[in-house]
Amino acid sequence: SDTVVSAVLNVDVKGPVINRHVYGHFAEHLGRCIYGGFYVGEDSDVPNEGGIRLDVVEALRALNIPNLRWPGGCFADEYHWMDGIGPKKQRPAMVNTHWGNVEENNHFGTHEFMALCELLGAEPYISGNVGSGTVKEMSDWVEYLTRDGDSPMVRLRKANGREEPWRVRFWGLGNEAWGCGGHMSAQQYAAEARRYGTYCRDHGDNRLYRIAAGANSDDYTWTETLMKQLGDLGCAYRPQAFYQALSLHYYTIPGTWQDKGDATVFDTDEYYRTMVKAAHIDELLTGHSNVMDCYDPGKNVGLVLDEWGTWWNVEPGTNPGFLYQQNTLRDALVASVHFDIFHRHADRLVMANIAQTVNVLQAMILTDPDSGALVLTPTYHVFEMNKGHQDAASLRVDLLSGVPTREVGPDALATVSLSASRKDDKVLVSLSNLDAAGAADVELDLRGGSVGGVVSRILTAGAPQTHNTPDAPAAVAPRSHEQVTVTGTRVRVHLPAHSFVTVQVDVA
Ligand code: AHR
Repeated sequence: SDTVVSAVLNVDVKGPVINRHVYGHFAEHLGRCIYGGFYVGEDSDVPNEGGIRLDVVEALRALNIPNLRWPGGCFADEYHWMDGIGPKKQRPAMVNTHWGNVEENNHFGTHEFMALCELLGAEPYISGNVGSGTVKEMSDWVEYLTRDGDSPMVRLRKANGREEPWRVRFWGLGNEAWGCGGHMSAQQYAAEARRYGTYCRDHGDNRLYRIAAGANSDDYTWTETLMKQLGDLGCAYRPQAFYQALSLHYYTIPGTWQDKGDATVFDTDEYYRTMVKAAHIDELLTGHSNVMDCYDPGKNVGLVLDEWGTWWNVEPGTNPGFLYQQNTLRDALVASVHFDIFHRHADRLVMANIAQTVNVLQAMILTDPDSGALVLTPTYHVFEMNKGHQDAASLRVDLLSGVPTREVGPDALATVSLSASRKDDKVLVSLSNLDAAGAADVELDLRGGSVGGVVSRILTAGAPQTHNTPDAPAAVAPRSHEQVTVTGTRVRVHLPAHSFVTVQVDVA
């Protein structure tokens, strides 16, 4: 018989709001993310606006993308923004030494990125160059983008066709400063963040939210060094501090960095190891939040997980520097587990950015390099099914019965994961059954309100390895889920093996 999990949801007890920015995205000049993915150029046969692919934009608009991080990643610390403005023919080319050693013609630059954000309805999140740039270069970029009136950078922007300043809130002070962003020590970077942060000015009423390049995985010392600096300088509570948030990067890799595992060919053991690695983000968010609490108990400084997702070996025959990988139902469950954990950390986690949106790592969209055909991945569907959590109040889910667990090597994996939120009179519950073979039933006892209509959707397939291709674009796609029964205030949801389900309940 199926496992039964009993949970209590007090729909009238609202927790911290789930910042919509935890559904953020990331687009780097890497492989075919920008060129061929987002951008095909004005002369392409693919329908475009100013070179930006309209089919990609249309698909992504359905996700309500709140913000888009750009231009890197590691690329950010070798990007010189002035090379990417002005007439395209006059823009100097460069070599993208980090990603594939290919030539970058700089045809996609600041104006193109801001146009993309406008088409998507997303806020820009710009990562500035600390590793190989200068303070002046970064300061000028902020002025170019956000200053009104008259100034050298404003005149340059206007000469390039943009009268009005843009609004830019999210500003990254470098990327992975402990690695590709300059191989700095935490102390070294803390000093750089202070310096760069100082000269990234607020122009007019544009208020920057400066995000210091944070830790890798469980490097709590890095987080502590940056938090201590704010505390020592009495800045943790001042809006004009050098940085208002710290980032964190964590990738789900069940293998080693040398052999990460294949995106589509994996056995059950590797599937479960992947889920254990995905669930590990809970320990990391808890650990970094605890360190931050020691210096900022009022939770004024934000935690930004600006790179997360699965990282597999590249698809056979593709450029190893392009990080192109397929995406299966397993990836979708990695995403759904992350979101449950993000929702539980709503008090400190202000933003998260999946790496990356198109054609790179755990993408939403894969485009065929020859035909241009576009495929929506299983991960795309999790973002779409979960979008109702954006800016909703988180709800605690209290478990009356234990969640089933499974031993995976030395670890215990909870095979049912769930989270809930409330916006107005709608409660959205997300449920994942990670068991590769067995079904589960979850009985939700909704207290503190009456239960009205219920709408449920399911994402699953015959096997965790199932994925979408141009020939089978809907092998993994959401459909209506009928195995939900309502008895008074109890909602019972059937979860087949390896499935993701959302249940939206009208409450009064
Ligand atoms: O997302 C791919 C790369 O992973 C990014 O460029 C870098 O920041 C990280 O190491």
